[in-house]
Amino acid sequence: MLSMGFNPSIDVTQVTNKAIELGSHRALQSKTDLQGIITHASRSLADISGFTVDELIGQPHNILRHPAMPDAVYYLMWQKIRMGEEFYGIVKNRCKNGDHYWVMTRVAPVIENGAPVGYTSARFTPRTELVPMWEELFAKMRDAENGSGFNDERRFKPAHDILCKLVQRKGYNDLSQLVLSQRV
Ligand SMILES: Cc1cc2nc3c(=O)[nH]c(=O)nc-3n(C[C@H](O)[C@H](O)[C@H](O)COP(=O)(O)O)c2cc1C
Repeated sequence: MLSMGFNPSIDVTQVTNKAIELGSHRALQSKTDLQGIITHASRSLADISGFTVDELIGQPHNILRHPAMPDAVYYLMWQKIRMGEEFYGIVKNRCKNGDHYWVMTRVAPVIENGAPVGYTSARFTPRTELVPMWEELFAKMRDAENGSGFNDERRFKPAHDILCKLVQRKGYNDLSQLVLSQRV
């Protein structure tokens, strides 16, 4: 996984626990280079997240990261998109002021002349009644990551196991399939 550091001007640990509804903003879009640096952000993504488009462009995409999100979800996402596959996930993103919004996200490679040149993403309103399930799952995964005792990639294993158990219990083979089954 890429470790890109945090934007020093933002206290990423500061959260308000206030959820922002997406409302009429249907697809919040962004694109990145191969390192996850934002090269394009839709006005709708900027509006919801509280940044301007100019503040987002050129930043690592973890500028939107909420501290409640498990590392293992992003580890999985990078594995998938680096293999040239698309990834679907439910994500809790942090706004600039510490509020948050839940989205169903699709992330996929952009291929030009047969080679990946970057990644593209779109975020949609998730099924709100299912958000508590994801919140509970992510809290368990975070606990597992923090308690794993490892600093390297082995620390994703316990959290990944928790995720896999839920996905299988719901009758699916991977996270993307489960998330797609929950499309609004
Ligand atoms: C196209 C694309 C879109 C992304 N969208 C988000 C996002 O909305 N929120 C987020 O926290 N991370 C997003 N990421 C993942 C981040 O790059 C990063 O891996 C993640 O925030 C974890 O942060 P870390 O790398 O500092 O551990 C996206 C990555 C790509 C390539």
